[in-house]
Amino acid sequence: MTERTLILVKPDGVKRALSGEVLRRIEAKGYTLVAVELKHATPELLAEHYAEHVGKPFYAPLVDFMLSGPVLAVVAEGERVIEGFRSLAGTTDPTTAAPGTIRGDLARTWDLPVIQNIVHGSDSPESADREIGIWFPAL
Ligand code: CMP
Repeated sequence: MTERTLILVKPDGVKRALSGEVLRRIEAKGYTLVAVELKHATPELLAEHYAEHVGKPFYAPLVDFMLSGPVLAVVAEGERVIEGFRSLAGTTDPTTAAPGTIRGDLARTWDLPVIQNIVHGSDSPESADREIGIWFPAL
């Protein structure tokens, strides 16, 4: 079934000039880009996007990190793209993310209070609908 997912190239990825590499991998896999926009997050937007993490110990550093520079927000479409992009991204911890994945190939662990792992991808159809509405209200 064709579906859509919300992908973010986080500030670490944008700063390291990896936006094109991430878009290349999405397209090379055969997914379609529906929307691509460089955006600056706000604390309010992040509180919605990361609602499940509000109150966790890493929430404040996560917000600081996500406000530290622009984010490339992307909507991609394709058969099982939600699961497919999470597979392309690799696991949350970049140290152990499998080689061949975005995080496994391009990210590492730094001695920082928050994990910097280049990309975000929605984790379910419900999250995708919610997150696309947050980042692209006109879609
Ligand atoms: P992501 O899974 O895209 O969304 C939540 C983010 O919070 C995650 O990427 C990491 O950037 C960060 N994160 C998740 N768990 C931790 C943790 N235990 N310590 C620090 N940062 C985390």
